[in-house]
Parts: sequence; structure tokens; C-alpha cells
Amino acid sequence: MKYSRPRGTQDILPPDIHVWRYVEGVFDATFERYGYEPVRTPIFESTDVFLRSVGEATDIVSKEMYTFNDRGGRSITLRPENTAAVIRAFLENGFHRRGGITRWCYTGPMFRYDRPQAGRYRQFHQVGSEVIGSLSPLLDVETIDVVTTALEALGFTDLVVKLNSVGCAECRKSYTDILRSALAKLQDRLCEDCDERALKNPMRVFDCKRCEDVKAELPSISDHLCQGCAAHFDQVKSNLDAIGRTYEIDARLVRGLDYYTRTTFEILHGELGAQNALCGGGRYDDLVEQCGGPSTPAVGFSAGLERIISVLPDQGSSLASRGSDVDFYVICLDDASAPRALRAARVLRAFGRAELDASMRALKKQLRNAERRGARVSLLVGGDDPDRVIWKDMEKREQIEIEDDGLLAFAERFCEGDNG
Ligand code: HAM
Repeated sequence: MKYSRPRGTQDILPPDIHVWRYVEGVFDATFERYGYEPVRTPIFESTDVFLRSVGEATDIVSKEMYTFNDRGGRSITLRPENTAAVIRAFLENGFHRRGGITRWCYTGPMFRYDRPQAGRYRQFHQVGSEVIGSLSPLLDVETIDVVTTALEALGFTDLVVKLNSVGCAECRKSYTDILRSALAKLQDRLCEDCDERALKNPMRVFDCKRCEDVKAELPSISDHLCQGCAAHFDQVKSNLDAIGRTYEIDARLVRGLDYYTRTTFEILHGELGAQNALCGGGRYDDLVEQCGGPSTPAVGFSAGLERIISVLPDQGSSLASRGSDVDFYVICLDDASAPRALRAARVLRAFGRAELDASMRALKKQLRNAERRGARVSLLVGGDDPDRVIWKDMEKREQIEIEDDGLLAFAERFCEGDNG
């Protein structure tokens, strides 16, 4: 083999691709019912889009971005996440002038130069939503509800929603001072990275996997919320209660991106091990303004498709094997009959998936292929009769001869029988 795929990337091929399309379809259908409209933005952006929004002291920006200069000397970054890019698109296309609430959703690849391991890739895929234009806690609740509803439709039952509030810029100011002095007392126990975090952006210490003990001793932001943020958090909790969505408060859930204000949440799945978050999200009321727009609050989530698919309940794998099955397998027995076989396959495609075997191999071999492809019907074209084909029901092991001209009507009756 001359080439291999880059480390941390995956080829998504049949039959697995059918599971991917199924999962994406369930999210699409759920978003549609909640009134979200899909958007597609470029997979690369000017590096600036991510620098301040995600935050220069975050791992994503400081260690994980795929950044390069293009041939015109512009700094370009493969998107490590989509929220900042979606807000860029929202502003650039003038949606902020329309007023009201904008509900957008998306699916696509993201790129982070991280150490590849189970559930962690360098190219991975997110599905997500962003609701832009309202401060209402009902939309934090809706965001948690829309992703949980989609995950439930995929068969998940044992999900844990972790919930916290990281307050607003105001409460964060006084909290950061308190945190700084707590960190100063624990300095000799901090790892090298956290030494720097403590100086630059102390809340990022909570992202550290090496300083778990220290983190447990630090004051949590949710104990230092201003009145407005505390009231917002109460409303989120009581409205989640009102729709029967359960959650666990995790006072240390600050999330690894700088733009969050107030609500933060993650949805965890027990079987995922170290990378156990299926989804993460929260409110980011200052980002639109930071990106040069008018003050516009927003809230959203993104879920990792690789992780969802790796722990997808039952139906996933059965779909994977069914997804590539064909309904009709058209077997051509000799070169002279090729035009008839081509025509027959086109007729059958009105009723389902029809695949033409163009190998001209012996009947037995082609029939074996039909079975391998899960065909319900094999259609034998050629041989002795120039006007008739053989319709072979692979399940019932019955066969019948039909006129070429009668194929359409026969297939129609066959499929009607199917639908009862
Ligand atoms: P995030 O927590 O960085 O948030 O990523 C969201 C989800 O993407 C994670 O929970 C995980 O399932 C998946 N994910 C992240 N990194 C990787 C990776 N290297 N390999 C595989 N899966 C991964 C965000 O990206 C925010 N934009 C979420 C958001 C939207 N907040 C507001 N709106």
C-alpha cells in the first residue's frame, strides 16, 4: 500500500455509512419538528474567527487548531468547532437585522489536532444547533430538549445531563479574583500548563485532566452568581423539571471554550470511557457582540457523531447490514441481452433498489452474488427466450416467466402485495 489516511481520520464506508445516514436523518427530522433550519458554512475560516471567540488560552486554540497560510498569505484555520463560524455567517449575511429568534442547525466535519484515541479524532463530525436572539431560559431548555429528544429517538435511554451555570462577565470578574487567590495557595500542586492558565485565564484550570485533586478544592463559579444569573439558572432548572428532563448539577462544568455565559451542559454516556461526552453546549450571550455585531444572546449545542455511533443502541448495526441490501438483482446471461437487462433494471428502479450484474458470468455465480447482496428478487435476462425474463423470488424460492413488456405491471403487483 502506497498511501494511508492521516492519523486521527476515518474512512466511512458501506455498510457503516448507512448507520451514519440514519443518525443524521433522525437529527434532521428532530430539528425540523422544532423549527430549526439547516445551514452550511465553509470548513475553513479566517483564523481570527476562532482566536478570541473560542479563546486564546483554551486547548483548542493554543494546541489543536489546523492553521496555515494560504497562497495569498492569509491565515486560515480548519474549523475546530462551528459556533463561532455560524455567528460569523449570521452577521456577515445580515441576519441580525431581521430581529426575532433565529434557529439554525448543522452537520459536518470539524478538525482538532488532538492525540487520537477511542472517541477522539483529528477529523470528527458534529451535529448541532444554535438559537440566536433571545435571553430566555426557555431556549436553554429547548436546546437540551432537542438533542435529548433526538438521542432518545435513536434508542438511548441511559443518558446523564450535566448542568451548570458559569455566570456572566460581571459575576465572572469577582469570581476570577477569588479563583486566582485560591490558585495562588495551591500553586505548588499545579501542573506546568495550569501554572500558565492560572495567570492567563484561571477558569481554564477546570479543563485540566492532570489537576483533578486541585480542581476539587477550588471555589465553583455557581456559588458566585449575580442575582440575574442565579435567577436564570433557577428558571432553566424549573423548566427542565416541568418537561420531565432530568439533570445533575456539576458545579465544575465550565466547558473548554471561552465564549460561554450562564448555562453550560454536557450529555454523558457511561459506555464511552474517558471521552464520555456525547454532546456539549450552553449559552453564549456575548459572542455576537464580540464578533462585531449588536449585543445578541444565543445558546446552542454540538454532539459528536463518531461517539454517538460508537455506542448506538441495537438498531444501528442491523441497519448497517440492511442498508446496502438491494431489492432487485438483474442477471444478464449473455452479451446480446445486455440492452434488455439495462432496460429491465431501469423499469425496476421505479419500485426499489435494482442492481445490474454486468459480469456475464455463469448463472450460478451471479445468483450467489444476488444472495450476498440480500436481493429479494433476481431477474434473469437472456438465454433461450428473447422476449421473456425469469422473475425469481429469492425468499420463497419460486420463479415465474414473464414477458419483457409485462415487467412493469408485474413488479407493480408484486410491490402492492408487499404493502398489503
Ligand atoms: P465541544 O464540547 O468542544 O463543544 O464539542 C462537542 C462534542 O463534539 C463533544 O461532546 C464530542 O462529542 C465531540 N468532539 C469534540 N472533540 C472531538 C474529537 N476530537 N473527536 C471526536 N469527537 C469530538 C463545541 O464544539 C461547541 N461548539 C458546542 C456548542 C454549540 N456550544 C454552543 N453551541
